[in-house]
Amino acid sequence: MMNIVHTPVMLNEVISFIPNSFDELISVDATLGEGGHSEVLAQKSNHLHSFERDAEILKIAEKRLENFNNISYHNTTYDNIKTSLPEAHVGKVGFMLFDLGVSLYHFKEANRGFSFKDDTKLDMRLGINDKSAYDVVNKYSQKELEDVFYKYGEMKNARFMAQAIVDARSKTVIETTKELENIIFHNTRKENRYNKTHPATLVFQAIRIEVNNEINILEDALKGIYECLADKGIVVFMSYHSLEDRAVKQYLKANEKTRNKDGLFRLINKHVLIPTDEEIKKNPPSRSCKMRIVEKVV
Ligand SMILES: C[S@@+](CC[C@H](N)C(=O)[O-])C[C@H]1O[C@@H](n2cnc3c(N)ncnc32)[C@H](O)[C@@H]1O
Repeated sequence: MMNIVHTPVMLNEVISFIPNSFDELISVDATLGEGGHSEVLAQKSNHLHSFERDAEILKIAEKRLENFNNISYHNTTYDNIKTSLPEAHVGKVGFMLFDLGVSLYHFKEANRGFSFKDDTKLDMRLGINDKSAYDVVNKYSQKELEDVFYKYGEMKNARFMAQAIVDARSKTVIETTKELENIIFHNTRKENRYNKTHPATLVFQAIRIEVNNEINILEDALKGIYECLADKGIVVFMSYHSLEDRAVKQYLKANEKTRNKDGLFRLINKHVLIPTDEEIKKNPPSRSCKMRIVEKVV
């Protein structure tokens, strides 16, 4: 039995938006992960193209889904959907899913420095990008660190925390997650050290987004979606923090109602959907999920 750690979020809702009006349904899972959503998409589609930038987790999904013969795997970032599909002469896509961010696998199993709960080397790379969390923490200037914390962690104390890290690394390099966590903890006001959200959460989030260029890649991917979709093709976006959700929301706002160079979409749900209380109870990491659904208008 394989050890799958990530429970697919809002699976019933995802299923409910898979269109049944296509004779031949081609679907795309832009974020395969351990393949929880792909398992269902493969059953409901004639062909499924699953994208995943992390080769390690992709292998796990491939093993899990080995009995399906209608899945093509693409070990690349989802901004390449717009080039990979035409290159493979794939027809227009009827359903696309973006389950954004990282998987629970990355926090619990990957040992690549995503979590400050374990003591591992600072890495956080999802793919073969050259810059690691170690480089960001030890080589970025104080101003660059401050910008990363401000932009990707939306931290009010971005400047102070950047200064604290630069002071600490002037004594010795910061190599592990625990060393970084310790610095953040001791530079957090005593009354905030034991808040519900650990003081290191936003610093780690910001560094991960910087290392993997997550928001820029998402914004780039959004611009290519329209071209890949069939008439009335559906896209489901699931985001887990405000920066991702904002990127999706702003893109959709700009391309709803008014047609411009990126096409035209119709919002299927006026308000975001969120997991039920029951799902959150069963699978607490689902609690921050926000789902937006759109349809292509030709
Ligand atoms: C929330 S998980 C997906 C979980 C999956 N739906 C499941 O049920 O198992 C997001 C996945 O997207 C991958 N990912 C993140 N950014 C990506 C990108 N730009 N291109 C392709 N995959 C990406 C991560 O490595 C992670 O495995």
